This record gives sequence, structure tokens and C-alpha cells, in this order.
Amino acid sequence: MGTLLLITATLCLAGAQHQGLIDYLEQRLVAIEGRISLWHEQSNRYATELREFKQQMNGLTENLEKGHEALRSDAETVGTRVERLERELDYMETQNPAPPCVDMDKNLMEQEIMTAKEKPKAEYKLSDCRDMISRIKAMKIVKKAGGLKGVWFKDTSVSGKVYVFNGTSKDVLYEFGSARDLAASVGLSRGRPIHLPFPWSGMGHTIYNGYAYYVTEGAVFQLIKYDLQNGSVVDSAVFSADDQVPVYGLSPETYIDLSADGGVLWALFATRDTERTISLAKMDPDTLEVEQMWDTPCPRENAEAGFVICGTVYVVYNTKLASRSRVQCVFDVDGLVTSDEAPLIYFPKRYSTHSSLKYSPLEKMIYAWDDGYQILYKMVMKKKLEV
Ligand SMILES: *[C@@H]1O[C@H](CO)[C@@H](O)[C@H](O)[C@H]1NC(C)=O
Ligand SMILES: *[C@@H]1O[C@H](CO)[C@@H](O)[C@H](O)[C@H]1NC(C)=O
Repeated sequence: MGTLLLITATLCLAGAQHQGLIDYLEQRLVAIEGRISLWHEQSNRYATELREFKQQMNGLTENLEKGHEALRSDAETVGTRVERLERELDYMETQNPAPPCVDMDKNLMEQEIMTAKEKPKAEYKLSDCRDMISRIKAMKIVKKAGGLKGVWFKDTSVSGKVYVFNGTSKDVLYEFGSARDLAASVGLSRGRPIHLPFPWSGMGHTIYNGYAYYVTEGAVFQLIKYDLQNGSVVDSAVFSADDQVPVYGLSPETYIDLSADGGVLWALFATRDTERTISLAKMDPDTLEVEQMWDTPCPRENAEAGFVICGTVYVVYNTKLASRSRVQCVFDVDGLVTSDEAPLIYFPKRYSTHSSLKYSPLEKMIYAWDDGYQILYKMVMKKKLEV
């Protein structure tokens, strides 16, 4: 009996212990459930938040994509516009190429016409003449008429008329009332043809004081002084240089290049003697007599044209594959200007090479012929010995 009691008590005790365990486990379960539901709640909240976030992100991405699309189409529009602009620029370049430092001057011809209408200024003497080139200020393409090579120039001292020598050897030149008349002409049709008694040779002619001074080639080279008003040969002279060679390497047709200013007729030429360089002669424009000669240090090779201003020779160089023309050699008869101190002057990139460059002292303009284009360059001058 005592044993039974003991067993019962033990069982009771075991039952009580078991109950305790169950209670404990239940509490733990409740706690775990609590935490699980908390996690649920939290994860639900996270899920919602995540969903919302996703929605927001979707919205944002959409907006971003739209923005991106808009940007891309903008960029494309800008791209096409830039391309079009570039094409237009290219086109304008080919139509009127000019470097940034030289203006295209629409008013050059007006200036020029005004100069023509002004009373001719008193002719200055070489001794008073101290101009040298400082830079090119502006250019104007006046016309494209005639062949690839030629000369055009104006008689500033008498009539203001413009003369066109089309080609390298012909006997008809054309007279225009002004550069503007030439610009308005269909080809050279508006010009008055002047028939010369002897054909010209090369691109060395000049117009001065109502006369055309030009070179004709027979057994020897002869200079002709032709009165443009009454159409007669006033004087002619054999040019006194032996064994002549073309004066400019890139313009093989020109053997003597004439220019007049300061009451002097200048001739640039070259002979076999000093084959590599260019020589200069000073002549009397009334009698065509040579008064003095110089050998300049300026090479003939790659020279395309030249001119003389106040006793300073400027030789313009290019390359066989035409690039930028530039004054690269200077020679002064009084030694006042050397190539080192003269500014290196670049002409605007043009069509080809200049077959002639004729300086008009009264207008401070160069009449240029470039691949059939008649071009004016307005020059800025300074005084020699001024730096
Ligand atoms: C100008 O000269 C070129 C080359 O000699 C020639 O082909 C052209 O017909 C000439 N033009 C005029 C208008 O005389
Ligand atoms: C033309 O004018 C010049 C002067 O420049 C004169 O010497 C010549 O005799 C004149 N000729 C004719 C044919 O009138």
C-alpha cells in the first residue's frame, strides 16, 4: 500500500513535472507565434513598401526612359542641324573661302567706285613713297569670267576704267567702265574689245596713266606702251636682258612682270645668269629706258606672282598642289625692308594659284586673278621703318 502511494505520488510528481514542461513549451510556442506574426506583419509591410517602391521606381524609370527618349531625339535633331550647318559652312567655304582674319567685304567695290570718282590725287614720287604691306584687310570676289589665267587691273590715275586681259596670249583686251560693270557683265560681253597691234605674252601687263604696258614675244621680248584712249602704240622697246627664263616657277608664261608706282615702271624678270632668283629693273614709264637693275635674293622656285610697292618687291609663293599663297620674300631697293622683318602674309585659301597680282597704290588694293576668278584684296599699309 505504501508502495502504491509512493508510485502514485511519483506519478503525480511526474504528471506535475510534465505539466510544467507543457506549460513551458506552450509559452514558448505563444512567444514564437507572436514573433512569427510580427515577422509576418513586418514582411507584409516590407512587401507593401517594396511594391510601392517598385511602382515608384517603375514610374521613375518610365519617366527616365521618356526623358532619355526625348534627349535622344533632341540630340538627333541637334545632330542633323549641326550636320546641315556644317554642310552649309562647307558650301559657303567653297563659295567664298576666307580665313577668319580676313573679312569678305561687300563694300570693296563701292569704296573702289568712290575712289574712281574722286579726283585723282597728285602722283607721288618714289622718294616720298614709304608704304609697305602690313596685312590683308578684306577680300571680294568680283567675278568669274574668262579662262584660268589672266590679268585684270584698273587705270586709277586717268579714267577709273577696268581692263581685262583674258588668257596668256591674245590680242584683244576688254575695257569696262568700272569693276561693277565687269561684275554685272555676262562673261566679258559688256566690255569694249580693244584690238592690240601685237599679242601679249604672259601675265605681266599693267595699266598706268592711260596706257597699257605689255610684253610681246617675238625673237626677243619687247615692251609695248599702248595708248588706251586713242588706240595707238606710243612706244616700244626691246627688254635689255639676255637669255631670259620665266620669272615665276609656277607661272611659266610670264617672262617680264610689270608694275608702276611712284612715277616708276618696274619689271621683275629672270635670266639664265641668275637662274634661281628673280631680278628687278627700274624703268622710265615715258621712255621705257632701264635706269637701274638689282638681283633680288627671292627664289623663282614655287613663286606664283609678285608686285612692287614703293621700291619693295613682294614675291608670292605657293606649292605645285595649290595651297595657301603667301608673301615669303621681300626685297627693298633701299634696303629698308628685309624678308626677316616683313610680315609673312598669307592670302585667304583660294581656288588655285594666282596667275597675276596687280597692286593699285591709290586704292591700296590688289587685283588678283585666281583660276578664272577676279578678286580684290584690300591691303592695310604701314610706313617702312615703322615696326
Ligand atoms: C578667255 O580665255 C580662255 C582661255 O584662253 C578662253 O577659253 C575663253 O573663251 C576666253 N573667254 C572670253 C570671254 O574671251
Ligand atoms: C595718241 O595719243 C598719244 C599721246 O598719248 C600721241 O602721242 C599720239 O600721237 C596719239 N595718236 C593718235 C593716232 O592720235
